[in-house]
Amino acid sequence: MPENRFSMPGVRNDAPDLREPVLPVRRSKKQTILQMFAVGLLASLALPFVFHAFGFGIEGLLSNLSARTHLYRPGALVSNPAIFSHMLAGAVITLLAPLQLLPQIRERIPRFHRWIGYIVCVCAVLSAVGGLAYIGLRQTIGGPLMDFAFAGYGLCVLAAAVQTVRFARARNFERHRRWALRMFVLAIGSWLYRLHYQIWYLATGGLWMAPGFTGPFDLFQLFAFYVPYLIGLEIYFRLRPVRTAQPAAAG
Ligand code: HEM
Repeated sequence: MPENRFSMPGVRNDAPDLREPVLPVRRSKKQTILQMFAVGLLASLALPFVFHAFGFGIEGLLSNLSARTHLYRPGALVSNPAIFSHMLAGAVITLLAPLQLLPQIRERIPRFHRWIGYIVCVCAVLSAVGGLAYIGLRQTIGGPLMDFAFAGYGLCVLAAAVQTVRFARARNFERHRRWALRMFVLAIGSWLYRLHYQIWYLATGGLWMAPGFTGPFDLFQLFAFYVPYLIGLEIYFRLRPVRTAQPAAAG
């Protein structure tokens, strides 16, 4: 008889069981307040970009923006809806993804966590597919390297959205948690891209930035808004011990 429902013949049972749910962790009031403050701060800093993406997306879907942006091409029946609906879906994920970080929501209202999770992952797929379709049909303003970098970003978003849902449905919570964290850094990636530019511009006045996104800083930025964050997460996963369920204390 297996010792637990996931153990298999020939498999060592002292290895951490990644399929066990992560139990609620006891947190001090201070920790809870800090977590909520950090998530609230992140969400409010991203809010102006969320409004920009949402408004731009709606306008592009409902009106002719060819006088205002290169992204709109009159009569382009696929690339216009693709790029502007990707902005709408992107605004939703930038807004909602930080909420998923709050353990208070995950543990106390898991149904809410699940539904927000589905909305984030579906919108992530829509945003990535829209962005990728636009790259395929029209190419980006920054040329082949930007096409490559943004397409890489889109593929990472797609993979993270699919894997996050897949492992949640398989009740493989540790792998779900890892993919969900990747999904989170990718979900805020588009905002991080703008944030890096704002900080850099304030600090340097626009050093190494050039028209057509050809300056050294622009080129660095093509990957800097998602690759270092994903690498940082992988380092974190390796340094941090696996969180598995603790057996209930005896007695
Ligand atoms: C995370 C959510 C996302 C949001 C909120 C978002 C938002 C936006 C916005 C607002 C623009 C218009 C430019 C601007 O006003 O700054 C834009 C452009 C673009 N986005 Fe996204 N985006 C997201 C994710 C993605 C993904 C996953 C891809 C993947 C392929 C992508 C590809 C593009 C491309 C190709 C452009 C046009 C670049 C150009 O040639 O000017 N975006 N995005």
